[in-house]
Amino acid sequence: MGIDVAIDLGTSRTRIFLQNKGIVVDQPSVITINLENDSVVAVGQQAYVMLGRTSSKMEAIYPLSGGVISDLELAEEMISLLLHSVVSSKIGMPRAIASVPGEITEVEKRAVVNSISGAGIRRVCLIEDPVAAAIGAGIDIESPHGSFVVDIGGGTTDMAVISLGGISVSRTIKHAGNAMDDEIIKYVRNKYNMLIGKRTAEEAKIKIGCVLPGVIKGTHRIKGRNLVTGMPCWVDLEADEMAEPLAEPAQVIVEQVQDILEETPPELTGDIYSDGIVLTGGGSQLAGLDLLIQRATNLKVRIADDPSTCVVRGCGEAIKYIDRLGKNDSGVNPITDQY
Ligand SMILES: Nc1ncnc2c1ncn2[C@@H]1O[C@H](COP(=O)(O)OP(=O)(O)OP(=O)(O)O)[C@@H](O)[C@H]1O
Ligand SMILES: [Mg+2]
Repeated sequence: MGIDVAIDLGTSRTRIFLQNKGIVVDQPSVITINLENDSVVAVGQQAYVMLGRTSSKMEAIYPLSGGVISDLELAEEMISLLLHSVVSSKIGMPRAIASVPGEITEVEKRAVVNSISGAGIRRVCLIEDPVAAAIGAGIDIESPHGSFVVDIGGGTTDMAVISLGGISVSRTIKHAGNAMDDEIIKYVRNKYNMLIGKRTAEEAKIKIGCVLPGVIKGTHRIKGRNLVTGMPCWVDLEADEMAEPLAEPAQVIVEQVQDILEETPPELTGDIYSDGIVLTGGGSQLAGLDLLIQRATNLKVRIADDPSTCVVRGCGEAIKYIDRLGKNDSGVNPITDQY
């Protein structure tokens, strides 16, 4: 007997949940490599602080992009190191549940399974991000009742109407936190003639980002390079001006939410009308996003408690479904066996 593991392999962060222990890893999905001998220099938070600051001999890399693995070898190495930082390799880890975006290809799913089994796990089951997010947000996914969940991460926004443990209508789009950071970089370049890095843009978004002017107050100092003089410089960004670069990517999410509502079967629409929409994922905390969705849909919008960890907690709770697989159980089962 060993312990079961739940893994949320996110574009921005990797989270690991152990049965009986809860969340034991919550670290940036970054790995730093020494390019001279291909050895690993750092992983997780230690690698994250090196982003954009490495010498020519090293590279800090995100092995995932847009919700899917872009470098299988590095993803496997990163998962293995993060997992073994909390679980001794002597302890058996026979089974894992991992979450994947709702709309990815079989090849992309296989990459997730391979990267996890490469870390020493014998059996990997998959669950779709919005379903895991719903469980983590406290929704009873087994009931014959429709729930609408929108998980806004770093690489993808995954939205789905869920009923009876499965997905009725869903959509995965690449408009999420990273795309918003890119818009901030563009805005600062155009308005202030200033070049900033991705980390600086993300920090500004988290501190004073908003999608509607007036929803939060404050200023945040960003530092970068002046594109005209080439010299280091700084600017104090106002919260209100952040709506300028962030409104457009937020609007794309809003439009997809509206599309899903139009495609939802009427009985489920009725359920959603009573319960509203639940937002999860780190990006759901962007100021004013809940209000923007509420105004566009006329529905109640709730940000789940601890939204960033809903998916991994939901995966952890879904461990109980592994034993039901293949047992001819007539009940619903939100997971699929892959290995
Ligand atoms: N307070 C905040 N306000 C706005 N954005 C935030 C806040 N906190 C975190 N984020 C953003 O949330 C994103 C990360 O969310 P999350 O951890 O859910 O992503 P992920 O699961 O790694 O990515 P994905 O699900 O797309 O693969 C990042 O873009 C981060 O900048
Ligand atoms: Mg995620």
